[in-house]
Amino acid sequence: MSLKKIGVLVSGSGSNFQKLIDHIHDVYGEIVVVLSDKADAYGLIRGKNAGIDAVFLDPKEYPENETYNEKIIERLKGHGVELVVLAGYMRIMTPNFIKAYPNAIVNIHPALIPSFCGKGFYGMRVHQAVINYGVKVTGATVHFVNEVADGGPIIAQETVKVADDDTPESIQKKVLEIEHQLLPGAVKAICLDELEVNGRIVRKRLK
Ligand code: GRF
Repeated sequence: MSLKKIGVLVSGSGSNFQKLIDHIHDVYGEIVVVLSDKADAYGLIRGKNAGIDAVFLDPKEYPENETYNEKIIERLKGHGVELVVLAGYMRIMTPNFIKAYPNAIVNIHPALIPSFCGKGFYGMRVHQAVINYGVKVTGATVHFVNEVADGGPIIAQETVKVADDDTPESIQKKVLEIEHQLLPGAVKAICLDELEVNGRIVRKRLK
């Protein structure tokens, strides 16, 4: 069986992308391209270092997010991408994007969806909101992307404890550690065609 072709979208450091390079690339799937909306995203350098086509597409050159996304879809399709992974990608997915890749876009969110997610919950804001609310556990979620922000079918979740002396920064660090295991695990399961999606329920396929 040929390896599933994966396209990755990053806006920043790309530490999750690095885990995909280390554990998935050329083993369970083939990462054929990494795209970014930020020229200085370190994720692009990670891609280049791994010999993966790394492309910055400037959103300023497109009048709307929808037309920008058309350009991204064009690039992904041009590379034969079958699975899109958002690994710290900060732009909103427009309906044309979701239509082009139904149940084939995966996102990682640094909290336990449906808590601390949706509009405005990104980056350190998520972890600050966790502290402000006083929850005793938080975590990470990998999910398929649909038209609702952070609202698609959940593939995998893992928790971390919130200690009395935790700060947004210390929670971010703990959560990132579990993200680094959760995302490759989910992508591997998809590459091996181990999952089935029924409505919003994702289960392991019975063999
Ligand atoms: C992660 O916390 C992820 O959950 C969120 O963006 C961050 C990306 O981190 N969507 P990195 O660029 O992979 O280091």
